[in-house]
Amino acid sequence: MDRLQRFTAKRRPPKKRMLVTGAKGLLGREIFHSFCREYEVSAAGVRECDVTSPMECRRAILGFRPDVVVHCAAYTAVDKAESEEETAFSVNAFGTRNVARLCRETGCLMVTYGSDYVFDGKSTRPYEEEDEAHPLSVYARSKWGAEQALREEDPEFLLIRSQWIYGPHGRNFVFAILDRARRGEPLRVVSDQTGCPTYARDLAEATKRLIDVRARGTFHFSNEGETTWFEFARFILDHACPGPVSLSSARTDELPYPAPRPAYSVLSKEKYRKATGVAPRSWEEALLEFLKRTYEGGVAW
Ligand SMILES: NC(=O)c1ccc[n+]([C@@H]2O[C@H](COP(=O)([O-])OP(=O)(O)OC[C@H]3O[C@@H](n4cnc5c(N)ncnc54)[C@H](OP(=O)(O)O)[C@@H]3O)[C@@H](O)[C@H]2O)c1
Repeated sequence: MDRLQRFTAKRRPPKKRMLVTGAKGLLGREIFHSFCREYEVSAAGVRECDVTSPMECRRAILGFRPDVVVHCAAYTAVDKAESEEETAFSVNAFGTRNVARLCRETGCLMVTYGSDYVFDGKSTRPYEEEDEAHPLSVYARSKWGAEQALREEDPEFLLIRSQWIYGPHGRNFVFAILDRARRGEPLRVVSDQTGCPTYARDLAEATKRLIDVRARGTFHFSNEGETTWFEFARFILDHACPGPVSLSSARTDELPYPAPRPAYSVLSKEKYRKATGVAPRSWEEALLEFLKRTYEGGVAW
């Protein structure tokens, strides 16, 4: 290291600190990977910080003193939530309240994620941030409860509603489809629910952009375009599955999923676009990149 390098290294300001809750989940891991160069990141899984415990949240936040908390911890088992209402509310609504309260007390920014399922799916155009919520399922009500808790506790916050998230780090639709295809199982996928897939890496990047422009309040983010779960599955198989697979479409009421879901939940990204000056890329482009990165040569096995 020469003298100039030593001088600039000494002068470099200390990194900002970020605490990630739910850091072992699909999005939590992606956030860690996307932010760990720029921030000093404390990655807290449920063992380090169970968000249903006000004491553990206090210990994690006061102990680390983050500038930003990215709250990814959540109960996300949409169908199981129908029979585990108390747990879903405890993690999603009460847990978010605990984190939000500590963020307000310590004056740090709280970033967290909401769901398209807070809407009932009756809209005929993409949902905007201020559209009225009308959650249909227990999971959706618990996520709406999380939003209400956040607004009541009123820390400085950034709430990003998203949908149909996939990525390399956890259970998700892309892996589920390819696993079943690999086992030679016939696939039946619903064709009457319309939304848009979101690549976790793009969502993490969008989070970074919103933080950088000091955006606050509620935003929607997914990749661009719209599709059905059936078309999403077909695209995955067409681009990553080497052999023939039996894929057929089904109506929602033909499949035994206990939780009701919105028939249409495309999110408008206009507010995000205006705030950041950047448009999300299409879901097809993002998915192709993910498949290429995950499966060398684009083939899943
Ligand atoms: N995935 C999607 O399609 C989607 C769509 C819209 C919005 N979102 C939202 O995005 C956020 C991240 O979701 P995700 O897809 O990353 O979900 P995920 O993979 O299920 O991650 C959630 C993480 O939270 C942890 N957790 C559960 N209970 C906890 C508790 N009491 N205290 C601390 N951690 C706890 C889970 O640990 P265990 O696994 O050990 O339980 C898991 O690691 C959530 O707010 C979710 O609602 C997701």
